Amino acid sequence: METKIVKIDIKNAAEMQKAIDDAARVIIQGGLVVFPTETVYGLGGNGLSRDAAKKIYAAKGRPSDNPLILHIARPEDAEAVAVTSPMYERLATLFMPGPLTVVLPVKTCVPKSVTAGLSTVAVRCPAHPVAHWLIEAAGVPIAAPSANLSGSPSPTCGAHVIEDMNGRVDMILDGGDADFGLESTIVKIEDDESLTLLRPGAITLEDLRAVTPVVKVADAVLHALREGETVLSPGMKYRHYAPATETYLLDGDGDARLSYVAKRVSEGHTPCVLVYEEERATFLEILPQDHVIVFGKKDDMRMQAHNLFYLLREADKLSADEIYAPAPPLTGMGMALYNRMIRAAAHRVITL
Ligand code: TXA
Ligand code: MG
Repeated sequence: METKIVKIDIKNAAEMQKAIDDAARVIIQGGLVVFPTETVYGLGGNGLSRDAAKKIYAAKGRPSDNPLILHIARPEDAEAVAVTSPMYERLATLFMPGPLTVVLPVKTCVPKSVTAGLSTVAVRCPAHPVAHWLIEAAGVPIAAPSANLSGSPSPTCGAHVIEDMNGRVDMILDGGDADFGLESTIVKIEDDESLTLLRPGAITLEDLRAVTPVVKVADAVLHALREGETVLSPGMKYRHYAPATETYLLDGDGDARLSYVAKRVSEGHTPCVLVYEEERATFLEILPQDHVIVFGKKDDMRMQAHNLFYLLREADKLSADEIYAPAPPLTGMGMALYNRMIRAAAHRVITL
């Protein structure tokens, strides 16, 4: 299939309008469009069409038991596809539009291929103007998983979308770098007092606990699933976000990580490291420049999140035989970083 790639310049209103109209037409006619959001790029199709959902699974190479998020233009549009509640209203008022996905009881107009047959549906109202205008112009909710091939890190820039999706979709809207760089927080409403955090993101556990103190963190968020444990969010059970190069998290301070990596070098390995800016100079004493990748200042977890997926993909293109990254703390955005990084590392955490 030939993919039409359009670079979007938000400042050029006329050009943006035309690109969005073209993309909306593709969606309405049953085709697929990759579009930018503030979290990561989405691979979108008509959320009310069974066939569009099937095409999405095929383009991504994704198992069809892993449901899709419905993207809506306004928080109140959830009403058309799901049963909302006062708790939904509270979350929507505080965090929508933005990087939050809410799991609600589904209505019958949503095809089973979108929800993978679950009794619930995930809805999200993105803040990115291109995403917003596209949903608005299409006039239907847009079903969209992250626009990566199943198993690789979510794309956060046009170039990474093109690597994975060129030839697999009708159109790609290249809107530059994603703001957050990690997928949305997913929360399930249990009742009017309680929530379950299914996937951490830029809306943090602390943010949710300010809405209600009863927020349970699903087991799969921080641990590998053990035999017999229930998966609350099907996507959690797949190996995810993983670079092809074996990746490890090192749980220890800068000095301990430096000694560990130095030992690997002395054993004949060619490691590549993700390090905090403050540590760059010391790691350069033992590794070549392009194998020392800075992913942000130690305290700037928002910047680390912004860079993580981009850098994991770039690290994979080096001739390194292993990638080492620091295990982030679990507070604030750190929980989202940890959740993605333990998956990238296939749960290999080395305690130093
Ligand atoms: O930021 C994001 O959420 C991005 C952008 C494009 O909006 N989308 C995204 O979609 O990350 P995806 O498909 O890559 O991840 C959605 C996750 C999957 O792990 C899926 O299992 C879970 O949401 N999910 C979808 N519907 C669900 C439901 N009804 N109950 C529980 N989990 C659900
Ligand atoms: Mg994904």
